[in-house]
Amino acid sequence: MKKIWIINGPNLNFLGIREKGIYGNDTYESVCEYIKKQFKDEAVEIKIFQSNYEGKIIDILQSAYFEKIDGIVINPGAFTHYSYAIFDGIKSVQIPTVEVHLSDIHKREEFRKISVTSPACVAQIYGKGKGGYVKAIKLLLEK
Ligand code: DQA
Repeated sequence: MKKIWIINGPNLNFLGIREKGIYGNDTYESVCEYIKKQFKDEAVEIKIFQSNYEGKIIDILQSAYFEKIDGIVINPGAFTHYSYAIFDGIKSVQIPTVEVHLSDIHKREEFRKISVTSPACVAQIYGKGKGGYVKAIKLLLEK
């Protein structure tokens, strides 16, 4: 049984509340349920984490190493654009990681176009809403 962890960064727990025109009406809990449901009949164990703290995200990445997790899906939220600590964390654990963004970060403010974390990842998926997480997991299961 493959093990995949999804790690969501700051403000993603506010889905359904924050900027609905950009992120949609779905609540964080319903997005998590949706993702898990897509894989309920597959041989994959999916765990979803969320933290508003950079250090906590790194702790979770390091736990993934010790737990021998097969793949990581990460939406680092705004940390995407400036956290070299998360870049290092992803590199450190040597686990295939896919970066996901609900919105199309390439069509928003200039600062969002830069991802300092994606060079540590095997792929970046953006602008596909919650379906981006499903795509990312499928990609990791192919590996
Ligand atoms: C986001 C995009 C980031 O720029 C933003 O800071 C987020 C969410 C996305 O999923 O589209 O918090 O990662």
